[in-house]
Amino acid sequence: MKKNIAIIGGGAIGKALAETLASTEINAEINVFSRKSITFSNKNILSKIIDYSNEDSIVAAANTAAINSAIDLVIVATGVLHNDKIMPEKSLNQLSAEKFQYIFAVNTTLPAIIAKYFLPKLQTKSRSIFAVLSARVGSISDNRLGGWYAYRASKAALNMIIKNLAIETSRKNHNAIVVALHPGTVNSNLSKPFQKNIAKDKLFEPQYSATQLVKVINRLKTKHSGKFYDWEGQEIKP
Ligand SMILES: NC(=O)c1ccc[n+]([C@@H]2O[C@H](COP(=O)([O-])OP(=O)(O)OC[C@H]3O[C@@H](n4cnc5c(N)ncnc54)[C@H](OP(=O)(O)O)[C@@H]3O)[C@@H](O)[C@H]2O)c1
Repeated sequence: MKKNIAIIGGGAIGKALAETLASTEINAEINVFSRKSITFSNKNILSKIIDYSNEDSIVAAANTAAINSAIDLVIVATGVLHNDKIMPEKSLNQLSAEKFQYIFAVNTTLPAIIAKYFLPKLQTKSRSIFAVLSARVGSISDNRLGGWYAYRASKAALNMIIKNLAIETSRKNHNAIVVALHPGTVNSNLSKPFQKNIAKDKLFEPQYSATQLVKVINRLKTKHSGKFYDWEGQEIKP
């Protein structure tokens, strides 16, 4: 049966995931939801517009994605670390309520609201997956450097949302797996200002990260639901 895949977020990793899945899941229907229209060379990938700030638009996206069949795989690839006005905090005096609100709205609340409408659309008769891109820096036990208060906290909170979703989903859909994934440090707009000190072999191209993440996704079983895995399939502790 041809797979039905929805990717929310058409940034560097979201796009690369769509392209990787299109080449590995032959004939899959892949809808990529983004604020902008994206041109893909593979005709099985369809670019769809979404407005993340409007819950009705997220409802419509979930309905569109599931119009022909239940969804086998949802990947939430949205997230923000900085923008024109915001850079991650290096010290306490750089904290601001506005930064926290913005970073949490994108990194924590948005994936939760996406889950609200996309999780019920998952396939129940066979294995189905809801995965979000989190970040290793959201691991509390792994935090050795400090800094990046809002981003770290927003991803730690996202990991908690994933655990909650996994618990609730296990009661309703025995075939569904809900996980958080760390893509590695990937060459994208999000990482651009922080690439200077990263060794060349530690900075992945989006295509490499996507290939690794798809391998991890393909190995997931229901016992892995609620957990957090890196691009090598190693579990990251909260
Ligand atoms: N790159 C890394 O080194 C790295 C490391 C660890 C974790 N991650 C995580 O991987 C995910 C994807 O990152 P990326 O490297 O692909 O970044 P990217 O190329 O900058 O893409 C950012 C994505 O987030 C969405 N986005 C950006 N600003 C937004 C806003 N204000 N409101 C809602 N959505 C917004 C974009 O949506 P549109 O498609 O609509 O533009 C796009 O899909 C993020 O969750 C990030 O935290 C990345």
